[in-house]
Amino acid sequence: MLKILKNIFILILLFTIVPVKGSDYKLDERRIQRDTMRAKVECSDKFFELLAIKPEMVILDIGTGIGYHACLFAEKLKGTGKVFATETDIDCVKHVETEVYKKKLTNLYPVLVREEGLDEFYSKQKYDLITLIHVEIEDVNYFKKLKEFLKEDGRIIYVYHISMTLFNPYDFTGNFKEFIRELSMEPADSPFSKYLSEATRELIKQNSEISNNEVLLNAIINDFNMMISNKNFSNDFINGTVFKNVNFLKEEAYFAEWSMLWESKNRTNKLLIFQRFRNYFNKDKIFTYNLGLTYKKKFEEAGYKFKKEYKGDIIPFQGILIFTAK
Ligand SMILES: C[S@@+](CC[C@H](N)C(=O)[O-])C[C@H]1O[C@@H](n2cnc3c(N)ncnc32)[C@H](O)[C@@H]1O
Repeated sequence: MLKILKNIFILILLFTIVPVKGSDYKLDERRIQRDTMRAKVECSDKFFELLAIKPEMVILDIGTGIGYHACLFAEKLKGTGKVFATETDIDCVKHVETEVYKKKLTNLYPVLVREEGLDEFYSKQKYDLITLIHVEIEDVNYFKKLKEFLKEDGRIIYVYHISMTLFNPYDFTGNFKEFIRELSMEPADSPFSKYLSEATRELIKQNSEISNNEVLLNAIINDFNMMISNKNFSNDFINGTVFKNVNFLKEEAYFAEWSMLWESKNRTNKLLIFQRFRNYFNKDKIFTYNLGLTYKKKFEEAGYKFKKEYKGDIIPFQGILIFTAK
């Protein structure tokens, strides 16, 4: 009898204490690669100056994903304060738990929260800083309720990506004649030539000396937009993962490479066209900060006080909105 009891005890102990080997929870490697690449660019000194993390702070990172930012927040607190990293995706929570263990972080708490509405978990603390980095939440009531848990002098920081729009004739601000000359001098096998339509090429031939032609500009813009959605367009510019014969600025190169890791190549294609004809296009119009407008309205409707918006100057190709509770 005693032996049976002893065996049952050992079995219970095994099931409760020994961790299950080969966990079922696994994040896609490509996602980890993509998010790490992006987060590394985001987590610059400039960004941390803006966050102004101080010892003992209580920080909430909603939608933490792979937890890259949250881990750095916890490290900046140097073992003081608390960072709560919430997720609706259990695979992310398990991933962050592993990071916490690997990095020996004693002040970072990954938390699984429910998808609909504001989870009860949030009401258990008051926060000095709340971050939402590339997290989209539709419901204004969610933010209204969340505001109750932001300390009086606390801040909420929303980070978002620029939106990809198609080229518009109004984006064109350069010298038309020079633009046409440059375009017509592209070698025949250049993607900028070979993906131009026959009709546009014919129009270029007929109008090469004209200083302004709405029909031709519209035709070219139309073809450029076809190039944006052409899945093969970037192939001629890339060797493995390296761009060749491309006049990218440093931050454009990162953004194009990061965009290549996604199935959609639209962003890269637009940047490839822009870098070739950058003298003729208004740089501030090639991508838009529309999402910032949407979230500014949303947070204001939820009762937050708008403090500042940064458009690409802290993180390239990203906007940052800052609000306080009052
Ligand atoms: C694009 S990822 C960004 C992750 C991370 N913030 C980053 O920048 O790397 C958005 C994450 O938010 C999570 N998410 C979406 N809605 C959420 C919610 N209501 N509460 C918590 N997490 C949420 C998703 O599961 C996803 O992992």
